[in-house]
Amino acid sequence: MSENERHEQSAVSENVGSEASAVSVMESGEPSAVSVIGLGQMGTRLAQAFLAAGHATTVWNRSAAKADALVAQGAARAATVEAAVSASPLVVVCLPDYATVSDLLGPVAERLRDRALVNLTSGTPEEAVTTADWASGNGADYLDGAAMSGTRLVGRPEALFVFSGSPEAFATHRTVLTSLGNSVHLGTDPALAPVFDTALFGLAWGALAGFYHAVALVGAAGVDPVAFAAVATGHMPFVTSLMAEHARQIKDGRFPDDDGTVEVHAAAMKHVLDTSRARGIGTDVPELIGNLMERAAADGHGSSGIASVVETITKGERHA
Ligand SMILES: NC(=O)c1ccc[n+]([C@@H]2O[C@H](COP(=O)([O-])OP(=O)(O)OC[C@H]3O[C@@H](n4cnc5c(N)ncnc54)[C@H](OP(=O)(O)O)[C@@H]3O)[C@@H](O)[C@H]2O)c1
Repeated sequence: MSENERHEQSAVSENVGSEASAVSVMESGEPSAVSVIGLGQMGTRLAQAFLAAGHATTVWNRSAAKADALVAQGAARAATVEAAVSASPLVVVCLPDYATVSDLLGPVAERLRDRALVNLTSGTPEEAVTTADWASGNGADYLDGAAMSGTRLVGRPEALFVFSGSPEAFATHRTVLTSLGNSVHLGTDPALAPVFDTALFGLAWGALAGFYHAVALVGAAGVDPVAFAAVATGHMPFVTSLMAEHARQIKDGRFPDDDGTVEVHAAAMKHVLDTSRARGIGTDVPELIGNLMERAAADGHGSSGIASVVETITKGERHA
């Protein structure tokens, strides 16, 4: 595949969305076979999603009984890892760590030749690159991947799955992979999936830390957490619109003060801190954010737009 074709493929992949997923499955009309190795919480949901989308699904798990319910739903049980790999052109592994992937697949490496290996095990960028090289050395196309939406949403259009590595493997097996949810190919570097995995995990935790603090704060005023969540979720489109606008500012390296300066936000965060203290709740979250704003101000960003804090983070110094 030429660089241009790769670029086109990548651009198309980035636009994979819920409606596109549903259409591609219906249009293909020819479900592909897939094998799933590792039927823990996540692997079981992956296999269920493949089955629900009508794909011929072969499963293997160390404790064989975990496959029983899937077999009752129409999956084929493989007696060995080798049989599971041999059964399908697409092999999906979901295990606790890369060492386990290596232990299980190492002895059957020759069976992977001319197949696509998709690894949805969590790991580091370095492990992804090492595994991609190993797969390539054994004649297999490799995609590293990460399931970003827990187990509950798997198989639904809003479940985000990110993949990186072989564009050929993603193109060939796109119909099967999009039956998991919103499956996005990030690029050819296999390290990208674990990099996005950690970045998006941190993003979700930033949002959730703010949410938990807010629930405690309004809770001190007697507000029901469920009632608060109903208001808070309606506020999220504003937050996501800031992400889109601030990404453009960061890319341009210009930080207008339209959404408030670092100093203005630091003063507002001090208000959150004081109010939290007055209510007797923990101050961990506003202190953390306030510290970042103070450090950005000390770096000379006080009168710049709030997104300029990214320059302080990128600089990489630790706050004393
Ligand atoms: N669960 C989630 O919400 C979630 C979300 C995103 C990513 N992930 C990632 O998905 C991967 C799997 O997570 P999980 O939640 O499905 O884990 P899990 O429920 O603990 O299941 C682990 C699976 O690995 C198998 N296994 C463990 N050690 C093995 C070994 N030495 N040889 C063969 N099989 C072995 C287990 O087999 P037995 O049944 O025989 O024990 C089981 O099928 C992890 O990397 C995790 O970080 C999980």
